[in-house]
Amino acid sequence: VRVEFLDYAAIDDYGWSLDDDDLFRKASHADLDESAHGRLLVHPDESLLEAAENRGFAWPFSCRGGACANCAVYLVEGELSQPTDHIMPEELAERGFRLSCNGYPLSDDLKIVFNVKQLAELDDLIL
Ligand code: FES
Repeated sequence: VRVEFLDYAAIDDYGWSLDDDDLFRKASHADLDESAHGRLLVHPDESLLEAAENRGFAWPFSCRGGACANCAVYLVEGELSQPTDHIMPEELAERGFRLSCNGYPLSDDLKIVFNVKQLAELDDLIL
């Protein structure tokens, strides 16, 4: 499974929005660090967070058990299953927020924004 990722910090720095249609195109033209925008592969037995770590990236996390929301990501394209989720309100899940520690790809291609825990809506959940 191929994942294109973008760090929320870059969106914040450049004044972009999660809803921008051309978010990833803008990111490609912004000369971002390869830890902020790039691609990685997720193997079948890996969660999205594990895949990022196993490919050498340091994404935020804490409990690894679906209970803290530090690892939250935003789905721009594709779908992640969520076997263990004790914290994400339904309304945020419907908007596309998922927990990467417990997120297993259900589609061949994904586009996600990681490090979204600093968004006000999620900040309230963080333990
Ligand atoms: Fe706590 Fe994922 S690390 S919910």
